[in-house]
Amino acid sequence: MAGCRVWLLLLSTTLMGMTAAYKHVVFMHGVLAGIEEFTPSSSDHPGTNVTLIKAYSGICSVEPLWRQVGKIKSQVAAVMKSNPAGIHLVCFSQGGLICRGLLSVLQHNVDTFISLSSPLAGQYGYMVYLKKYFPKSVTKNLYKILYTKTGQDISFGNYWMDPHHLTKYRMYSQFLAVINNDTDKGQSHTYKQNFSRLKKLVLIAGPDDGVITPWQSGHFGMFNSSEAVLPMEDQTWYKEDSFGLRTLNDRKAIKMLTFSGVCHTNWHKNMSIYENGIKPFLT
Ligand SMILES: *[C@@H]1O[C@H](CO)[C@@H](O)[C@H](O)[C@H]1NC(C)=O
Ligand SMILES: *[C@@H]1O[C@H](CO)[C@@H](O)[C@H](O)[C@H]1NC(C)=O
Ligand SMILES: *[C@@H]1O[C@H](CO)[C@@H](O)[C@H](O)[C@H]1NC(C)=O
Ligand SMILES: *[C@@H]1O[C@H](CO)[C@@H](O)[C@H](O)[C@H]1NC(C)=O
Ligand SMILES: *[C@@H]1O[C@H](CO)[C@@H](O)[C@H](O)[C@H]1NC(C)=O
Repeated sequence: MAGCRVWLLLLSTTLMGMTAAYKHVVFMHGVLAGIEEFTPSSSDHPGTNVTLIKAYSGICSVEPLWRQVGKIKSQVAAVMKSNPAGIHLVCFSQGGLICRGLLSVLQHNVDTFISLSSPLAGQYGYMVYLKKYFPKSVTKNLYKILYTKTGQDISFGNYWMDPHHLTKYRMYSQFLAVINNDTDKGQSHTYKQNFSRLKKLVLIAGPDDGVITPWQSGHFGMFNSSEAVLPMEDQTWYKEDSFGLRTLNDRKAIKMLTFSGVCHTNWHKNMSIYENGIKPFLT
C-alpha cells in the first residue's frame, strides 16, 4: 500500500533530526498491510529509532491474534530491553489489538501507546476485508461462522463483538472476551498490572473511517443490544476496571482524539493526523 510508505516516510523524516533523548518508536501494521511497504529505504535517523514489526505481514495477519502476539512478543521485548528508558508503540487498525495483547502479557516499558483507528472494543459491521472471505455473509449472520472453534482461527473472529449474541461471544471469543474479562474464566486480572504500566494512551478515531464499526471502537466505545453506541465509561469492563483502563483514565492518562474526513486507508497518509495526533506524543 502506497499510503503506508508515505506515512513511514513522514515518520522517518521527522525523526531524522531528533536527538537521542527521544524514545524508540515501534510501529505495528494493520491487517493485510505488508511489512515490505514499511521498510525504510536506507535513511538512518540518528537519535530516534523506529522498529517496524516484521512478523505476520500480508495474508498471514489473518492468523489468530494470540498467535500473532506470541510471535511478535520476543521481538518487542528485545527492543524494550535495549531501550531501558522506555519506548513508544504506534499501532494501526488490527495492530492495535495485537498491541493490547502485548501490553497485557509483557512487563513492558511502553511510555505512550498510540492507537490509530483500531477496533479496540471489537467490531460489529461490515468490513471490506471480510468480503474476500465471506462474500455472501451479512453482519447479522457472521456470528454463526465466527463464534465457532474454526471461526476463531481467523483474526477478525477474535474481535467480532455481536451485541445480539453475547452468550456465544463469551463462549467462543478467544481474544477480545479474554482480555476484556467477558468470559467466566476471568483471566483479565493477570493482564491489568501490565496494561496499567502505560504512562499515556492516545486513542485516535474518526466517523468517516468506513471500516471500523462502530468507529467509536477506536475510543473503546461499543454497541449495546439496541445498537446504540455506548462510550467507554458505560462498558462493564471499564466500570469494573477489568484490565486497567479505568486506572489509566483516573490518572488522566487517556487522550481521545477524533478526526473527521479520514477513511480507514488514509490514516497513515494524512499529514494533519500525523502532525496533530502522532508527532506531539513521540517525545
Ligand atoms: C537503536 O536500537 C538498537 C536496538 O534496539 C540499539 O542497539 C541502538 O543503540 C539504537 N540506536 C539509537 C541511536 O538509539
Ligand atoms: C505480566 O507479564 C508477565 C510477563 O509476561 C507475566 O508473567 C505476568 O503474569 C503478567 N501479569 C502480571 C499481573 O504481572
Ligand atoms: C442502549 O443504549 C441506549 C442509549 O443509552 C438506551 O436508550 C437503550 O435502552 C439501551 N438498550 C438496552 C437494551 O439497554
Ligand atoms: C473478571 O471476571 C470474573 C468472572 O466473571 C469476576 O469474578 C471478576 O470480578 C472480574 N474481574 C474484574 C477485575 O473485572
Ligand atoms: C486529513 O485529515 C483532515 C483532518 O481530520 C481531514 O479534514 C481531511 O479530510 C483528511 N484528508 C484525507 C485525504 O484523508
